Amino acid sequence: MKIVLSCFLGIFSLNMVAIAAEHTTPTAPADYLAMESPIDMEDVDEDMLKKTKRLYKSKCKKCHGMEGDGEGSAAEDIEIKPTAFNAEGYMAGKKDGQLFWMTKLGSEGTEMEAFGPDSDAGLSEEKLWKLIAYMRSNFTK
Ligand code: HEC
Repeated sequence: MKIVLSCFLGIFSLNMVAIAAEHTTPTAPADYLAMESPIDMEDVDEDMLKKTKRLYKSKCKKCHGMEGDGEGSAAEDIEIKPTAFNAEGYMAGKKDGQLFWMTKLGSEGTEMEAFGPDSDAGLSEEKLWKLIAYMRSNFTK
């Protein structure tokens, strides 16, 4: 019985590693990818950044970290790791619509939950765009 059990656990943990290794971040549908943020980065001011920082801190920090390095306090226990936004070229390489899509609707099969108007968090689209502006402003490397 012990052998059977440990075999089972062995296969189970191998599976978890395989799931994480196989995961590729899904790409948003074309209509989302075509979206552009309604917030012009030139209009982003200290006041907006300060307010949005509070929102980021309360909803995103535990996974993505205050520095956007993907090393928040909850990240350790997560199989598919939270994205590091501050990786070289990451923010520049991501379309507004991709960031918006995932923040609004989440990523199936991962801990990245939906934050949009229809989710439990219930953030307005305006707030989602502000979060994206905050991320671009703080994490672009
Ligand atoms: C419980 C952990 C957790 C929290 C909280 C969380 N995320 Fe994530 N996030 C993830 C994980 C895991 C991924 C990787 C998903 C994937 O690769 O499919 C991710 C990926 C992302 C991406 C990557 C999109 C891409 O295409 O590269 C964005 C943008 C994002 N999160 C935004 C946010 C924002 C904004 C918040 C706060 C409102 C937030 N996340 C809160 C776990 C989290």
